[in-house]
Amino acid sequence: MTDMTEWQGRVGTSWAEQWQRTDRSFAPLTKRLINVILASGQHKSIVDIGCGAGELSIALANAKQDAKILGLDISADLIRAATDRGTNNSNLSFAVADAAKWNDAAFAPDLYVSRHGVMFFDDPVAAFANLAKVAAPKAELVFSCFRTPAENDWASKIGALMPSAPAGDPHAPGPFAFADPEYVNNILNKAGWSNIAFEAVDFDYIAGEGDDPVADAIDFFGHIGPAARAIRSLTGDARTDFLTRLRTLAEANVDAGAVHFAAAAWIVTAQKSD
Ligand SMILES: C[S@@+](CC[C@H](N)C(=O)[O-])C[C@H]1O[C@@H](n2cnc3c(N)ncnc32)[C@H](O)[C@@H]1O
Repeated sequence: MTDMTEWQGRVGTSWAEQWQRTDRSFAPLTKRLINVILASGQHKSIVDIGCGAGELSIALANAKQDAKILGLDISADLIRAATDRGTNNSNLSFAVADAAKWNDAAFAPDLYVSRHGVMFFDDPVAAFANLAKVAAPKAELVFSCFRTPAENDWASKIGALMPSAPAGDPHAPGPFAFADPEYVNNILNKAGWSNIAFEAVDFDYIAGEGDDPVADAIDFFGHIGPAARAIRSLTGDARTDFLTRLRTLAEANVDAGAVHFAAAAWIVTAQKSD
């Protein structure tokens, strides 16, 4: 579970510091997501939900010079990182905002996009209903989200290194909250979206590369994701033991000078109902 207050605090700060590595881990997915977005039609007012450090917003601002792009995120640190990166684009802006409550009378989006920024709403039906309400007629939605942990080795293999914890609510806000397409379909339907479709994308998640890919991967996992949480909570021998096992896992996944893990996402598309 990762809730809004964590994104506004420590987790958002870590993502703002680590954006080069998080962009790298998503790279093949980003390519496919951008292709789907660009093929979705001519749009003039685009909002990137949970834009983080802004890679998707910046790519769209470059590709669609005649469109206005607005990136929204709840983390001030991430919006600062995104703004610093996107200063060359006059058609691009970023704002700290809760997308679940956002509205701007001067900006009725005809397209919402998101790379993994929509799984953290406390009340996803209310959030997507708000987004529909403030959008232009027939507005479209294109976002990515992770499929199940079992299909994402970077999560399940790290999870297997930790003491087993009682199973929580699979739909609680967090990276895997939208893994089940039926659940997501119901949310979007109830919130006023239709023509809902899911494309499965399997991709190569690069966790480490460079001179010492294993050290790079361990440092990345120490800042982002389930290992970072475990490392923070462990002390003494338990911490040392976990780090040793994390190193062994990273070493076992080195190929051609990089640490690779299997990753799996949905690209979800939908249209605002009449
Ligand atoms: C997994 S990160 C993805 C960030 C970015 N889209 C990327 O691909 O690098 C999820 C993002 O959603 C943002 N977020 C979570 N809840 C939000 C909300 N209610 N409104 C706006 N942003 C939110 C977080 O702050 C975080 O930047």
